[in-house]
Amino acid sequence: MKKVTVLWSSPNADGLTASAKDRFARGLELCGAEVREICLNRMKIEHCRACANGWGTCRQKGECVIRDDFEDIYRALRDSDGIVWISAVYWSDMTECFKAFLDRLRRCDAAHNHFLNGKRCVLIVCAGGTGRGTLECLTQMERGLTHMGMRAYDRIPVVRYNADYMLPALTEAGRTYAKRLETGFDMYY
Ligand SMILES: Cc1cc2nc3c(=O)[nH]c(=O)nc-3n(C[C@H](O)[C@H](O)[C@H](O)COP(=O)(O)O)c2cc1C
Repeated sequence: MKKVTVLWSSPNADGLTASAKDRFARGLELCGAEVREICLNRMKIEHCRACANGWGTCRQKGECVIRDDFEDIYRALRDSDGIVWISAVYWSDMTECFKAFLDRLRRCDAAHNHFLNGKRCVLIVCAGGTGRGTLECLTQMERGLTHMGMRAYDRIPVVRYNADYMLPALTEAGRTYAKRLETGFDMYY
């Protein structure tokens, strides 16, 4: 059974982002994946202090000096076969919580540990306003994951306009991802 972490960020327990997360997770479970959901907004994640002259223990030891929920989440990602990254779109970007986590993760993983190198991911962003900024948000998210050597197999924008047909499609997307984690991805990366 493949383990998948669904890491998501929105302050709203019943908003568009939570719906997208639920639909995708249902698809994963229907295909037998073991799903662990982590909502970054409910975790304690401080922002990076850029220790010393810019680099601290992240580069020397692959560890962050801040003692909060960061390490536990990092461990969960490391132990996962697949990771689904889901954020609400704020200012054409990821949420503040999401960015704070990604900033610290990238320092530890890209500069030292390389635990997440090669992880196969799906990226989903949810915009409830005009829908502008979804592509920039996906691009920024993928840039951060690419610094750590992760691979995006799909990049999915969910907006108010497409929610009626995109939310049901996310269950199918979750099923497909779970199956490919089992049987292999046919894309050369
Ligand atoms: C600070 C802030 C910035 C936002 N910026 C954008 C934006 O750039 N584009 C957009 O389409 N919606 C934007 N929105 C709307 C959110 O994407 C919308 O609230 C979305 O539904 C968030 O997901 P939720 O339903 O889980 O809260 C913004 C909302 C907030 C609070």
